[in-house]
Amino acid sequence: MPVYWPDNAKTAFGTEILRADHPFDQSDLFSDDGLAHLLDHYPRHLLEIWSFGSDQAGKSPALKGRAPRLPGKDIVDAVKHGDVWLNLQRSNFELPDLKPIADEIYGSLEDTSGRRARQRDMNLLISSPNVEVSYHIDVPMVALFQVRGYKRLWVYPRDREFAPPEHVEQLIHMNRDSDLPYRDAFDDEARVFELKPGMGLTWPQLAPHRIRNANCLNVSLSCEFMTLESLVNTNAIYTNAFLRQNMNLSPSALNGIGPVSLSKAAFASLHKALQSQDRERASTPITFELDTSVENCVKPLWA
Ligand SMILES: [Fe+2]
Repeated sequence: MPVYWPDNAKTAFGTEILRADHPFDQSDLFSDDGLAHLLDHYPRHLLEIWSFGSDQAGKSPALKGRAPRLPGKDIVDAVKHGDVWLNLQRSNFELPDLKPIADEIYGSLEDTSGRRARQRDMNLLISSPNVEVSYHIDVPMVALFQVRGYKRLWVYPRDREFAPPEHVEQLIHMNRDSDLPYRDAFDDEARVFELKPGMGLTWPQLAPHRIRNANCLNVSLSCEFMTLESLVNTNAIYTNAFLRQNMNLSPSALNGIGPVSLSKAAFASLHKALQSQDRERASTPITFELDTSVENCVKPLWA
């Protein structure tokens, strides 16, 4: 089952948005029955269930839920009729059925880019009609493969106006959520893509983006990975945050591998190793249970 990337992918990889064609939308693994089977075999305690609320401007806080006893087919039903977003994180490790697909995707990325794809986490996303994922950045590189349904993706420039360096640094230090301040005027500079089944996209690391589902169930594979360049870049930004907080400096963001970024990356590795404080982000408490008998299938736990 081949994945096709454009001919210019090797030179454009990491700096431009690239579009792929893939065949995974044809797989029975992602039919309603297939998704129910995957959900029944996925460790339920790892299943992330979120509801982003009815505020379509994306300003209401995301709520975290659970579904400890619901059969997979009822969870699929809840996503179809509710207002939720499921993340089966690390599905390439937790679901053997999906490992061949992950291998195919990451193999194609390596072949086309000429770079090793490390730290491979393929997240299976199953989300309700009209769900919006607000303006944010991801630390790893991402290749998003659309399998079922349609969604609109806005990708924004990576400069300081769209992603202030202080926010990016704090995210990398795990001190804050990945959401960024958003203004409607940003959309004037966005590249907009209509994702459909059989289509994949990857964009430069740390490019801000947001997503809105069409009025249908959406199934996507969010394939996170790191290249050597993105690892060095991430560690260099980590060091920038240290310089800004502790030495009152205003370092600039970096791109690419050079003597400065490499020395900053080396410092970051050392600093992380020596740091004793727990850098875990405070986890969001679970406040609802998935329930097909209530509106939006979101039942508050203590109502
Ligand atoms: Fe993202």
